[in-house]
Amino acid sequence: MNVLVTAGPTREPIDPVRFLTNRSSGKMGYAVAEAFAKAGHTVLLVSGPTSLDVPDYVDFVPVTTAAEMHEVVGHHLKRMDIAVFVAAVADYTPAKVAPQKIKKEGDSLMLELVKTKDILGSARGEFGFAGTLVGFAAETENLEANARRKLTGKGCDLVVANDVSEEGRGFDSHGNEVTLCFPDRTLELPHAPKSELAKDLVETILDLHLTKIS
Ligand code: CTP
Ligand code: CA
Repeated sequence: MNVLVTAGPTREPIDPVRFLTNRSSGKMGYAVAEAFAKAGHTVLLVSGPTSLDVPDYVDFVPVTTAAEMHEVVGHHLKRMDIAVFVAAVADYTPAKVAPQKIKKEGDSLMLELVKTKDILGSARGEFGFAGTLVGFAAETENLEANARRKLTGKGCDLVVANDVSEEGRGFDSHGNEVTLCFPDRTLELPHAPKSELAKDLVETILDLHLTKIS
């Protein structure tokens, strides 16, 4: 199978020396990319800045901003069988990048932010993707209800929901505990290291794909 995985945070520049980002380490996405490659699939990993090594036998396109990730994903998605969107993409980006370093002048500073394009939300419509589509949902409350809204709203076959309100799961941690939201059922997985979880997820996603195309 041809598999596209997005991973990591994005970085949205404010001025030449500053940017907006989030706590995503990229570990979950890289583990998913690695598990697909180890299972013998052709993987393209599109990642924002992380400190991780690219897994063996994985094709890699580094990006920085949400806009760049949108463009790269749009370029490659059509030829993919499976796409897994693990990246923690910035929802808003500075309306303009200051050409010079912003000086500390007033007692407060207003930054105007504008919404980024929803990359996962562009998959079915704008990008015409008909394969198996998997999203992640990072939530601090109403986990399942919020994840289900993303499942239907973005046309996914599966949303992997992640409670990021506690230490030791989700952003920047080694392990994770997720709830799998399918259109017709919900499955809670026990806490596990991200590498183990990635292996289980890859099996689940491949099963889902085979059912979809059979
Ligand atoms: N996503 C994306 N492009 C964006 C924002 C999100 O591709 N601009 C993807 C993420 O990679 C993830 C899914 O959409 O697979 C859900 O991301 P999340 O941040 O949980 O949800 P949002 O739709 O951005 O909603 P909110 O942050 O308000 O919960
Ligand atoms: Ca978001």
